[in-house]
Amino acid sequence: ERLAVGIDIGGTKIAGGVVDEDGRVLARTQRATPTTDPAAVLDAISAIVDEFRGDFAVRAVGVGAAGYVDVTGSTVVFSPHLAWRNEPLRDAVVRRTRLPVLVDNDANAAGWAEWRFGAAQNHPDVVLVNLGTGIGGAMVLDGRLYRGHSGMAGEFGHQRVVADGRPCECGNHGCWEQYASGRVLERRALEAVDAGSDIGRALVELAGAPERVDGAAVGRLAVAGHEEAGAWVAEVGQWLGIGLANLAAALDPGIFVIGGGVSETGEALLRPARTAFADHLTGRGYRAEARIVAAHLGNDAGLVGAADLARLRARRRRPAS
Ligand code: BGC
Ligand code: NA
Ligand code: ZN
Repeated sequence: ERLAVGIDIGGTKIAGGVVDEDGRVLARTQRATPTTDPAAVLDAISAIVDEFRGDFAVRAVGVGAAGYVDVTGSTVVFSPHLAWRNEPLRDAVVRRTRLPVLVDNDANAAGWAEWRFGAAQNHPDVVLVNLGTGIGGAMVLDGRLYRGHSGMAGEFGHQRVVADGRPCECGNHGCWEQYASGRVLERRALEAVDAGSDIGRALVELAGAPERVDGAAVGRLAVAGHEEAGAWVAEVGQWLGIGLANLAAALDPGIFVIGGGVSETGEALLRPARTAFADHLTGRGYRAEARIVAAHLGNDAGLVGAADLARLRARRRRPAS
């Protein structure tokens, strides 16, 4: 049995796990992402690998990173949410662990996992949209993870959907992820807490303390039937549907898989997304309409996919055993 460690480095948390060949997670761990210090991220990665190696025969390490990864899978060239700028992450992890290491974009890893083991199994043309801190994207087209010419395909979150809209961490304005990500809910939640409005108070009560209110708390409130929270999630869903219609115009997938924290609200998000998708889809009535479904692997998707990609790459590099 070949085990690999998968590590998913998002804008807020780092999740690590030991993953087997069938995508099962045998052990997991989590910590906050040091967002301003690439060296601390590296320390966290090697600490996680060391921790797991005590108990498991780990053969490879896969890192899914929330940023633009070059086509050779060695450098995180840019990240809107983290401090990486031309960060040679793969070699640094190799030096620390002495294991085969693969680095890919976090959403590419999650999309691969959903295609191999989750909601999109057996679909040849899949688009994954991950609503987390930002919007991550991945495409499995014709059964292949599509990385583009320089490795940076699938940055759907930075399609501009509003001319001169909200500022984005990437430096542009009006990017899709400023309208349809978990950050959007978080921003509204913090404003409501500050304002001391009804929903602000409900969020504090649910989270236990003002400083524990986040986007996920809005999701839970919405799922529990809170009307205003439901409206916030629905608005994110509408923006999601509009962006998916744009992606359908470009890529024509058979299925969209929606993952990331916000997708845990399920139909509260997906129903308005499907409606907006149908309203904005070009050629509607004359074409097949892609299904829009929730991801299956939840928080594990990124680490499972990163581990699987690393395991497959390491196996290809080594003589058959
Ligand atoms: C980044 C992507 C990343 C996504 C989700 C976006 O802002 O540009 O590289 O996959 O956030 O973390
Ligand atoms: Na991607
Ligand atoms: Zn942007």
